[in-house]
Formats: sequence, structure tokens, C-alpha cells
Amino acid sequence: MAELLIDARGVHTYYGASHILRGIDFSVARGETIGLMGRNGMGKSTLLKSLMGLVKPRAGTVHIAGHDMTGGAPYEIAQRGIAYVPEGRGIFGNLSVVENLQMAARPGTRGQCDWTYERVLETFPRLKERLGHGGQQLSGGEQQMLTIGRALMTNPDVLILDEATEGLAPLIAREIWRICGLIRESGISSVIVDKNWKHVTQVTDRNVILVKGEVAYAGTSQDLRARPELLDQYLGV
Ligand SMILES: Nc1ncnc2c1ncn2[C@@H]1O[C@H](COP(=O)(O)OP(=O)(O)O)[C@@H](O)[C@H]1O
Ligand SMILES: [Mg+2]
Repeated sequence: MAELLIDARGVHTYYGASHILRGIDFSVARGETIGLMGRNGMGKSTLLKSLMGLVKPRAGTVHIAGHDMTGGAPYEIAQRGIAYVPEGRGIFGNLSVVENLQMAARPGTRGQCDWTYERVLETFPRLKERLGHGGQQLSGGEQQMLTIGRALMTNPDVLILDEATEGLAPLIAREIWRICGLIRESGISSVIVDKNWKHVTQVTDRNVILVKGEVAYAGTSQDLRARPELLDQYLGV
């Protein structure tokens, strides 16, 4: 069996008294691209935060590359090879594109340095035209590209994207999907949260759909595309 980079079992997460995640199993094998879908408020972002140590599960375990990281600090989980691009865009607005990228550079968990500054710029031609610009001078789409580029500079084993195309013009969103395809081809595993199931299933191997903090569906992209009734039932499309 392929090496599990993320292996979460029986995760229960609360915000105060609100019981949000109700016993979730979620795993990512090396080289696998996974879509995580579900209507608003179903717990997708909470699951990602539970994996990253940003909220602590009240029950269950999270193993990262074989290490028990349940309740670990976000930076420790990042050091185990997980790069996380949260909802909204967390770039350093007062730093230039070059500075944002170069401060993130580091080798991966196995010493891999596949993603260099040059390769990131080749992947994001729009950023190449904006090198000296401050982060706050970029359009929303360019900021999103910068956050993804910065995540790639850490040479992660898994890249997690939470709603990376949200609010972007269709042309820019398409560019993000193209980049998701390139990242997949490069051998990095990904977890992609997005509302557009057509795009998601084009770049993923497997998909997980959450309903009220539980896994309502898990299956291959091929299977999901062949079952429109599930899309209607769980995603309301
Ligand atoms: N910081 C928070 N405090 C309290 N409740 C929250 C917080 N963040 C999210 N929630 C609630 O948890 C549920 C799941 O939210 P979330 O994980 O953001 O869903 P999704 O990403 O699928 O839209 C929602 O009911 C939301 O209102
Ligand atoms: Mg969310």
C-alpha cells in the first residue's frame, strides 16, 4: 500500500460547545490528489484546520507521514511536509513578490528542492511580470498565485488549497486549475477544496464529500462524475 502522508482517524472537533466534526476518517497517500467538497458550513475548513493543528480535535488521531501529530503545533506539521493555503489570502502585503517567494524557500522533508524560485516563476508567468510589486498591489488572482507559489517554495509533500478559486474571474480561476494540474504532474499530493466539482474531478484521483461534519461520500473522480444524483444530493448542483 502507498505511504500515507496524512492519516486522520475518528476526528471529532468542536468550537466551544458546537460539535462540528463527527468522527471523520481522511487520508492522503503519496502522489494522490484528493477533492474535499460539501456545501457551506459542512466542516471542510474545520477538517483542514484540524489536520494542520490550528484547531485541536477533541477525539481521534492525526498522523503525518507516520508520526502522531495529534494536537501538534502548526509549524511542526508544516515541517513534516504539509503546506496549507487557507481561505482568503495571507500574503505579506508590505513585501514584494520576490521577497514573499524567497523568504518561503526551503528544502522538503527528503531534501528535495524541485521547486525553485525559477520554476515557480515559470509556472506563474503573471507573477514574473510583477516581481517588484508589493503584495498589496496585486489583484486577487495574483495574490492567490503568490500564496500558492510561496507554498510550493517550501517543497511540500502535500499541498492543501482551501477555496483557492473563490471570488476569482473565470480566466484567472482557469489559470489556477491549470496550475493544480501541473502540481499533480510534479508528484506533489494535494487536497483541493472547491465548489466547482467539474474542475475538481478533472484534477483529482479521489473525492470526499462532507455533510454536517461526517463523510457522506468517498470515491474516485470517475465514480463521482458518473453519479449526478450524488452531486445533486450533497452539493446541490
Ligand atoms: N471559529 C469558529 N467558531 C465557531 N464556529 C465556527 C468557527 N468556524 C466555523 N464554525 C462553524 O463550523 C461549521 C463548519 O464550518 P467550516 O468548517 O468553515 O465549513 P466549510 O468550510 O465546509 O464551509 C459551520 O457551522 C460554521 O459556522
Ligand atoms: Mg471553508
